[in-house]
Amino acid sequence: MSLLDIVDLDAGYGDLQVLSGVDIHVDDGEYVTIVGPNGAGKSTVMKTIVGIATCLGGSIEYQGTDISGLSPEEVVRERIGYVPQTNNVFPTLTVEENLRLGAYVLDEMPEDRKRDVYDRFPALADRTDEDAGSLSGGQQQMLAMGCALMLDPDVLLLDEPSAGLAPDLVDDMFDRVDEINDAGTTILMVEQNAKEALRRCDRGYVLANGRNRYEDDGDALLGDEEVRREFLGG
Ligand SMILES: Nc1ncnc2c1ncn2[C@@H]1O[C@H](COP(=O)(O)OP(=O)(O)OP(=O)(O)O)[C@@H](O)[C@H]1O
Ligand SMILES: [Mg+2]
Repeated sequence: MSLLDIVDLDAGYGDLQVLSGVDIHVDDGEYVTIVGPNGAGKSTVMKTIVGIATCLGGSIEYQGTDISGLSPEEVVRERIGYVPQTNNVFPTLTVEENLRLGAYVLDEMPEDRKRDVYDRFPALADRTDEDAGSLSGGQQQMLAMGCALMLDPDVLLLDEPSAGLAPDLVDDMFDRVDEINDAGTTILMVEQNAKEALRRCDRGYVLANGRNRYEDDGDALLGDEEVRREFLGG
């Protein structure tokens, strides 16, 4: 059984349908990426999983239970970690305050998790009392991941973690994602940096126009001539 099983999903915003019949499954411990052109609906997949976009048909099963009707807060309570594509930290709150908010649905502040996050991202540990808005782009992305990790999620949904990062920080970001996956957290990641994402992941999906186009092991997609020509710039 898959940890996350999206079947024949139609979804969008109000009456506007963006996704048509999307199928994506993620097994326990896997690292899966979704790539595709701008406007393909990649972020909409993530937003539908977490209850921000509207599910218009099909199902989203998480650990065997349909979560497609849940509110964002209820999804967070299922300990599904989500790092949005943009505006993923509170800039006028400190690093520490952001991490605390990441755990707001929990009954108790998980102090040990917080220490784990600071161990994983030492740059944050040096800046606990600084406003998140004063951090570099890379540090803000680490903080956004840290907030999601405060839930000790079984699965982490990452929407374009490398977007906007200086080129020398992109590799570091992908290394962090590898580490989180190696430590046992299942990853579903959307990436603009498609080649690197496919190189790093176990399996990948190519979405276009709100529909599935290709699905295979990351290496197989990278080696597929049609995929390369259509979606990876040759
Ligand atoms: N809040 C919204 N309300 C209405 N339409 C939206 C909303 N967000 C996205 N859309 C539309 O849904 C379609 C898919 O957008 P989505 O953000 O999922 O694409 P994407 O694959 O993530 O693109 P990108 O690579 O640019 O991030 C686009 O046509 C977009 O204009
Ligand atoms: Mg997007």
